[in-house]
Amino acid sequence: MQINQQASPWRLSVAPMMGWTDRHCRYFHRLLTRHTLLYTEMLTTGALIHGNAAQHLRFNEEEHLVALQLGGSEPADLARCAVMGEQRGYDEINLNCGCPSERVLRGAFGACLMNEVALVADCVKAMVDVVDIPVTVKHRIGIDKIESYDFAANFVGTVAEAGCKVFIVHARNAWLKGLSPKENREIPPLRYDIVYRLKREFPHLTFAINGGIKTNAEIAEHLQHVDGVMVGREAYHNPWLMVDWDAQFYGDAPRELSREAVEEAMVAYMERAHGEDGVGWYSVASHMLGLRNGLKGARRWRQVWSDHHLKPEPPREVWRLAQHRPEPLPLAALPHAPTPV
Ligand SMILES: Cc1cc2nc3c(=O)[nH]c(=O)nc-3n(C[C@H](O)[C@H](O)[C@H](O)COP(=O)(O)O)c2cc1C
Repeated sequence: MQINQQASPWRLSVAPMMGWTDRHCRYFHRLLTRHTLLYTEMLTTGALIHGNAAQHLRFNEEEHLVALQLGGSEPADLARCAVMGEQRGYDEINLNCGCPSERVLRGAFGACLMNEVALVADCVKAMVDVVDIPVTVKHRIGIDKIESYDFAANFVGTVAEAGCKVFIVHARNAWLKGLSPKENREIPPLRYDIVYRLKREFPHLTFAINGGIKTNAEIAEHLQHVDGVMVGREAYHNPWLMVDWDAQFYGDAPRELSREAVEEAMVAYMERAHGEDGVGWYSVASHMLGLRNGLKGARRWRQVWSDHHLKPEPPREVWRLAQHRPEPLPLAALPHAPTPV
């Protein structure tokens, strides 16, 4: 594959995932890949304006490049929150126009905004006017049964005129009625061709494609058609996938990194997070449980790092147990095992 030394910041990214991509998770992902852009979980304008903004906006300096995803539909509120994000040091502000959950629908943001393209344009313009960092939009290709390319193209064209130059497109419709958020990430069919066509017809804009992408071969294939690839669930569940990304997709020299070294660095991070503000090791460890996926002993290792009985132990002790908890002997090795016939 052709290696691009001056890669777009959106070449590879890990998706915003509520409940998953918090700052501890992003710190872990950053150990695996230096260049991949990392997204926060969605933060609503209400939470930022009426809640503890300093706490919500916290991130580790090591996380850069890191993008703040906002949820909202009031231009003035979004502008205010975009400024907060820029001042806190985020590298990008992303507007969520793709999330179909009910709670989000009631607050009039997420995928339902694709029906209100003029409002999205106002929101984008309000943010672009007040920050210098990029303002990007994450959206679907359509909503409910609207399957025409023109719907997606009209959305992109109108929002681009308001000043958005980067679109992250989850390549399936959002069905706003009758499907749970989880089903909405699985049931509406993936139509990557719509995103490829957007790139062809708006060549001056940047497009990152998202949805159902699981392997480095698939990423390489998508990069033939669009500027970037965003990976969500696979990056979370199978994080070791990311260890080759810097070399394979950014032209870095291959890096010698072992799972053991990453785990050790996470133990040091758990100690730091606990020292800084009393974070329990289990809130950090829950994001790295996929680290040994596919390896012998992975299940037992995961059991230790998710064992609530060990909560009072310091992380270094849990780490020691995770290394040393023995595998059960295979049945055949036991003295009373039946002889095969
Ligand atoms: C647990 C979970 C939480 C999510 N939360 C958000 C969110 O806060 N904002 C958002 O735009 N998308 C959210 N998504 C959708 C993902 O960003 C992504 O678009 C979707 O999972 C499809 O990509 P994938 O097939 O690579 O996982 C979430 C997905 C999951 C699995």
